[in-house]
This record gives sequence, structure tokens and C-alpha cells, in this order.
Amino acid sequence: MVISLHSPLDMHLHLRDEEMLDIVAPLSARTFAGGLVMPNLVPPVTTAEDVARYRGKIRKAQGENRFVPYMTLFFKSDYTPEFLESVRDEILAIKLYPAGITTNSEGGVSGFDLKELSPVLSVMSDLGIPLCVHGETGGFVMDREAEFIPIYERLAENFPDLTIVMEHITTKEAVEALERYENLYATITLHHLYITLDDVAGGLLQPHLFCKPIAKRPEDRSALLNVALEAHPKVMFGSDSAPHPREKKEAPGCAAGVFTAPIALQGLAQLFDRHGALENLQAFVSDNAQRIYGIRPLEKEVVLEKTAWLVPEIYEGTVVPMFAGESLEWRIVSAG
Ligand code: DOR
Ligand code: ZN
Repeated sequence: MVISLHSPLDMHLHLRDEEMLDIVAPLSARTFAGGLVMPNLVPPVTTAEDVARYRGKIRKAQGENRFVPYMTLFFKSDYTPEFLESVRDEILAIKLYPAGITTNSEGGVSGFDLKELSPVLSVMSDLGIPLCVHGETGGFVMDREAEFIPIYERLAENFPDLTIVMEHITTKEAVEALERYENLYATITLHHLYITLDDVAGGLLQPHLFCKPIAKRPEDRSALLNVALEAHPKVMFGSDSAPHPREKKEAPGCAAGVFTAPIALQGLAQLFDRHGALENLQAFVSDNAQRIYGIRPLEKEVVLEKTAWLVPEIYEGTVVPMFAGESLEWRIVSAG
């Protein structure tokens, strides 16, 4: 069996910098037509110069692969209207992190005082710049996303014309919130469709599956699967592929992040096939994102076939992918 995907998009992607960028950028750029690139570098991407410089580095690292890096800024409540207007055409979205909640988010937002956030949010709304949010509180780790839902609701109610994307949702509460507000959307990762907390910590600890938000309960995964497999019009694929060097993962103080870029489309094809939903994969992995973000990606045709493919143990001796050393049921035949 063979399927063809048109211009697959990864709407939440960490490409990092320096050596890691050179390793991972070609892996996304080979099979995706574009990706929304997260700004949590050290220091974060906060100026027009940062955006231009980072885009240039990605373009260089992606090599010959045809791929559009859709750039983001790291949310700051002191951005001026003039700055936002000047940078509008250089970015696709602005990413908001609660301070300290995940990798390189120390300069994020504390307290969620709407009065403090409102000036920037209303300019974003006027300019049509979507807001992407890492929605976790500082509460108990399993409850962080559910506890954040009232904040999403306040944002959605106060800024009805602002497109708000709940990033990498992991709970049934987030899925339910999608239905209540017209301007709330969500990305869903591959790993949160496959795993629960049991896969991370139910047996021997699996550092390569440790990420933020942490994988939740079976009923949460079912809720995510329901909306992903039907390609609900308000959800789209965002891998949150988050590479860390092997020594940072297989260590005390394991860094959060699952590296899925090179296995994402094969893993999605396997999942949608197993659930008899292959006909919805195109919408989940591209069409919905095109509509939600109002983008027309470059033309790219990716052909997959149902043939066993052995996932590499490690890429460039540095970064371990999800399903390392395991066999997936689908492989990529061509992309171009
Ligand atoms: O697991 C994660 N890793 N979650 C995030 O939100 C950030 C990411 C990273 O940048 O490593
Ligand atoms: Zn992320």
C-alpha cells in the first residue's frame, strides 16, 4: 500500500542552533514542506535581527531540501506596537511561555496578569498575528495543563479575534476547551498520540520519552486520538520534536523533549493506518494548518509505503529518536 501526502507541515518544531541545528534541520526539511520554528534559543528570539539571523542559519543548515521555516518570536509583554508592525511579515506567530516551565523559558511570562499582557495581545489581534501558548501552570505536574484551561478561556474571551493555539495538548480538558471557543485551536504531537505516563515511568524509566507536558492518562490519549484521527478542523500536527544530546537525556536531571523529526510521518502513517483513518492524515498534517494559519506552503509530494522500516538507534552519534532501533510499518519512498 502506498500513500501520498501533499506539503506536510510541522506546526511546532525545535531546530535549536549550532551543531544540533546542522544535524536536525535536514531531517525535518527532507520530508516536511514547512515548520513553525520555536524561539526558545539561548538567548531567545526577540528581535527582528534575531529572526533574520536564525532564519539564515536554518536555510543554510537545511541544504538542498525544499522547506520553509516559519519563524516565531518569543513573547514579551514589552514589545511595542511599532516593533510588532515592523516584524509582522517576518514571523508567522508569537510563542508565549510561562516563565521557567520548560527548556529555555526563563524569560517567559510570570503571573498571567491580563493587564500586563493586553497591550501586546491587542496589537497581535489587530495585526492578525497568532498567539501560540505553552499552557502549563506551576502546579502538580499531572494537573498543569488542566489548571491552565481557565487562562486559555480568559485569553479567548478577552481577545475573540486573536487566533490562539494551545500547543502540544495532552488532556481531555484541552480537547473539550476547543469546542467552547471559536478562536482556540491546538497542535498535537506524535508522541502524545502514542504514549501515556505508563510508557515513560511505568517500568524502567524511559528518558527519551520524557517531555513537557508530560504524557498523561489513557483517557486523555483517547481524547487526543479522537480529534486527531478525524482531523477535527481545529487541530493540526505539531511534532514538538525537541532534540537534546544523548548525554543530556541519559542523565540525572534528564532534559525534557522527544526527538521525532525523522520518524514523524512514518509514525503518523502507522497510527492512522492502524486506526483505519489514513484518509484523514492529509488534513491533520497539512490542510488544517493551512486554513488555521492562512498559509500556502510550497508544493511537496511525500510518498510513503507500507513496508517495515528500522528506525536508526541514533543520528550523527548525538541524538536518539523516538522508536530508536524499533521497526515502523511505514517508510518514506520519496519526497520532493
Ligand atoms: O519537552 C519539551 N521540550 N517541551 C517543551 O515545551 C520544550 C521542549 C524543548 O525545547 O526541549
Ligand atoms: Zn515545544
